[in-house]
Amino acid sequence: MSTFVIIAIDGGAASGKSSTSRLLAERFNLLHVDTGSFYRAVTAELLRAGVKTDDVDGVRAAVAGLKFGTRIEGRSARMEINGRVPPEAEIRGAEVTAAVSHFAAIPEVRAALLAYQRGQADVGREKGFRGLVMEGRDIGSVIFPDADFRFFLHADPEERAKRRALEGRQDAVAERDRLDASRKTAPLARPEGATDIDSTHLTLEQVVDRLSADIAVRLPL
Ligand code: CDP
Ligand code: CDP
Repeated sequence: MSTFVIIAIDGGAASGKSSTSRLLAERFNLLHVDTGSFYRAVTAELLRAGVKTDDVDGVRAAVAGLKFGTRIEGRSARMEINGRVPPEAEIRGAEVTAAVSHFAAIPEVRAALLAYQRGQADVGREKGFRGLVMEGRDIGSVIFPDADFRFFLHADPEERAKRRALEGRQDAVAERDRLDASRKTAPLARPEGATDIDSTHLTLEQVVDRLSADIAVRLPL
């Protein structure tokens, strides 16, 4: 019987979740699921519809009308909303980055994405991947608390701001962390039992090697 391995990676903004997950997906042939990109896609769609972050009733109504699908690009899952994949340039732009944590704090937004995120495991199985690496803020705590592996990445805020600046992206990482960690529903926090990795003084390769050593026990290379 073949096993399907689920790896949960959580952490603050620019802690290295996406870069690490992408490299693990290549190394172990996993489906890479960036749930932040889902929250960003929903945010882009709400902003396009003219919904404001403080209009909770408007957000609830708009979210209820969204139909989600998945398109696989390489080893990554991209979210389709009402048949359209919002482009990367749009979901990584300053407007979405500034709004996303506000929409993500609304329980109905999180509830709308819950089953969809869990369903990515079925997508991964159907497409023949050996497992799933899913990254976000509440993967090891809420989405897959029974994941085979749960990691929590962090790095000093100054180091993370430097990483974003090197990418040429405008981002208030400390402010997003504050919003994400203080919300009532599924706040950013290290889930109990997750493996803590401080990457402040590690290169990306060192982080990937560290996680790979654990994963290779279940998924021999
Ligand atoms: O890449 P970065 O860490 O900067 O952010 P992201 O992973 O793209 O996530 C964007 C935002 O989506 C976060 O700041 C959270 O507000 C929200 N998010 C969430 O609430 N729960 C998740 N599982 C993933 C993202
Ligand atoms: O997904 P998340 O926002 O947590 O981080 P990311 O989008 O992967 O961005 C992290 C940036 O820091 C990328 O440019 C990485 O190359 C760099 N970096 C890292 O991820 N890990 C390190 N240990 C050192 C640098």
